[in-house]
Amino acid sequence: MTDRTLFHKPLSETLADHPYINDFLDSFGLTIELGEKTLADYLDTLDPDTLEDLGLSEEQLRHSLDEFLSGMMALSDPMEKVESLTIIGGHNKSGEAENLELVLKPGEVICIVGPTGSGKSRLLADIEWVAQGDTPTKRKILINDQVPDSKWRFSTEYKLVAQLSQNMNFVMDLSAEEFIRMHAESRLVTDPEEKVAQILQQANELAGEQFEPDTPVTSLSGGQSRALMIADMAILSKSPIALIDEIENAGIDRKKALDLLVKEEKIILMATHDPILALMGDRRLVIKNGGIDKIIESSEAERKNLLSLEELDNKLLALRNRIRTGDTLETI
Ligand SMILES: Nc1ncnc2c1ncn2[C@@H]1O[C@H](COP(=O)(O)OP(=O)(O)O)[C@@H](O)[C@H]1O
Ligand SMILES: [Mg+2]
Repeated sequence: MTDRTLFHKPLSETLADHPYINDFLDSFGLTIELGEKTLADYLDTLDPDTLEDLGLSEEQLRHSLDEFLSGMMALSDPMEKVESLTIIGGHNKSGEAENLELVLKPGEVICIVGPTGSGKSRLLADIEWVAQGDTPTKRKILINDQVPDSKWRFSTEYKLVAQLSQNMNFVMDLSAEEFIRMHAESRLVTDPEEKVAQILQQANELAGEQFEPDTPVTSLSGGQSRALMIADMAILSKSPIALIDEIENAGIDRKKALDLLVKEEKIILMATHDPILALMGDRRLVIKNGGIDKIIESSEAERKNLLSLEELDNKLLALRNRIRTGDTLETI
């Protein structure tokens, strides 16, 4: 139950602190007039007939608003901040123990490397599922040294983990703009139109080829849909943990994509084969035969090499653009 004072404070104050109350009422087709003195006063003035049309009693509306508010407030409670993610080892495909307890902190970028089929996506899935010994690897994941609350595991509004998956299959008959708007609205942001515009612009910067807001999502190329999901994740997702599965093959500007996704307060785990992305991480988990076999800290020497790798990459990118525009490569 929420703090009752919230219902009895001046309404303008309550709405400034909890703007999502508007969205909640909006979802029932109700709007608040600022003339009301408090939230309790507002609920008192609701016409019983209107509520009956909605199939609700005032009692039920109060109850669900109360539940909604306690959910939202619990999630923004600083006590719930993710301060660490711990991976407690399970076993590899041969049943050999991983013998490790790895603690990751916000601001860290961890790369997951290893051959195809070695178990990179499986490790990401263990984290997404907040595994508790209930997956084939028998790993356990702790948040802030504890088994996380079911609220964290199953909330859809504020997910603990945001995942950018390897395969993006759109089955919806929506335009890119409608799709992003739907996301923005479901995440209860206060300025959805502005966010939608930002996401479309960012996605176009990341994708090699431009697309229009009214392009159906089913007609986007692999790179364009990847770019759209990355921009969406970077701009809308409040999840403290971000998982990224192999963005390198998507034909997007992956350095820009990573810069966009890396935010101080997030823990980022990324499966990759790409040397540039791998060197941009703080640490690399080397996966072999389904288990975490080795942990490599990115060294100073490696970071120096990153610069020449980036030069090489830019050169290739320029050549790719020349091919795209019909140029020949007789001189490079
Ligand atoms: N420790 C493990 N024990 C049993 N099966 C595993 C283990 N690790 C991975 N697997 C399985 O091996 C297969 C390949 O793993 P996957 O994560 O898809 O590889 P990658 O993403 O590296 O190509 C999957 O079916 C996965 O569930
Ligand atoms: Mg994979």
